[in-house]
Amino acid sequence: MHVLVVGSGAREHALLLALRRDPEVDGLSIAPGNAGTAAIADQYEVDATSGEAVTALAKRIGADLVVIGPEVPLVLGVADALRAAGVPCFGPTKDAARIEGSKSFAKDVMTAAGVRTAVSEIVDNPANLDAALDRFGPPGGQAAWVVKDDGLAAGKGVVVTTEREAARAHAASLLDAGHPVLLESFLDGPEVSLFCVVDGETVVPLLPAQDFKRVGDGDTGPNTGGMGAYTPLPWLPDEVTRRIVDEIVKPVAVELVRRGSSFSGLLYAGVAITSNGPAVVEFNCRFGDPETQAVLALLDSPLGQLLRAAATGELASQPPLQWRHGAAVTVVLAAENYPGRPRVGDVIHGADAPSVLHAGTARRDDGSVVSSGGRVLSVVGVGDDLTSARESAYSAISAIRLPGSHFRHDIGQAAAEGRISLQP
Ligand code: GLY
Repeated sequence: MHVLVVGSGAREHALLLALRRDPEVDGLSIAPGNAGTAAIADQYEVDATSGEAVTALAKRIGADLVVIGPEVPLVLGVADALRAAGVPCFGPTKDAARIEGSKSFAKDVMTAAGVRTAVSEIVDNPANLDAALDRFGPPGGQAAWVVKDDGLAAGKGVVVTTEREAARAHAASLLDAGHPVLLESFLDGPEVSLFCVVDGETVVPLLPAQDFKRVGDGDTGPNTGGMGAYTPLPWLPDEVTRRIVDEIVKPVAVELVRRGSSFSGLLYAGVAITSNGPAVVEFNCRFGDPETQAVLALLDSPLGQLLRAAATGELASQPPLQWRHGAAVTVVLAAENYPGRPRVGDVIHGADAPSVLHAGTARRDDGSVVSSGGRVLSVVGVGDDLTSARESAYSAISAIRLPGSHFRHDIGQAAAEGRISLQP
């Protein structure tokens, strides 16, 4: 099986590494890729947002399966173009990808499916903003304002704040840019990312993970696209994972089928474990980054066969997934000033180590690897438990040199120290 992966981040680098372990995968290509993925797959330039361009590439190289990493091509219908041309594709149609691309669509599906989520309201007229802010945040009731871009925003469209002015400023800037704003009630409790391979009503969950969205240690600073992750979650009983599948993911998959928007691909449920049980924070229509780097590091089952089964309607007949014992931790190395405009173009030393997954990197003609984006790379540590996986990840990241770069020091720490508990 020749697999073409579309994307250029550490998530796609992790997908390639896991696909390479599948004995049925004998060809690997990536488009557009990065400096790290070029070493393990044939790399092609492509406009990843163009269904026509991706389909032409898949046909030209004889891909048997295309795996689409990021959300933007999916929301734009790249998977539809591939399917229409008869190329098996892991990734939902444009219609089903609205579960991530439109928060109001996702809310509508959840309401119809009876799935618990935050109470919310769309504001698309600045004249209604102040009254809506009064309904949705402190004082008195809610712990914080939650202000989201209704559309895609690469993880940076969300502000959670106790400061009314900060909430108002974020909402006003979105409205000024012509983006409807979603105000939500605050969901208290630790968050879980549960990735499920889905085809129609068939749902196969992967290991639950947790990511770290704020830029600074102790969950301080602005939101980012993700600064680290770990899996599995020692504080999450299997019973709660089953509830996420049975009470959230399956009903949403069934509802999408019922309304003619059947989902095939990776349905990512971002869930808060509140005192009233699991409640949805968001859905994504693709593998999460950086959780994928940790989750796939523990997958023993052949990934290519799993994704091909979902793409060809055979997911229900797949054997149960096998996982490596232990834990995995991803730590993201970010460029100076990220999540603001990142400093780029600096030489990275140590980027070619095997535990390094590239994202914002490029290779210069002299062979050196330079930074080219905000989230530059991820390291993955695997160990018998979370403590040893953390040690391995932090030892790997300390061997990398990039001027001005930064990373969080507390990925998985609270869980390793037994400091995460569920509310009664
Ligand atoms: N881990 C957050 C995301 O992938 O959107």
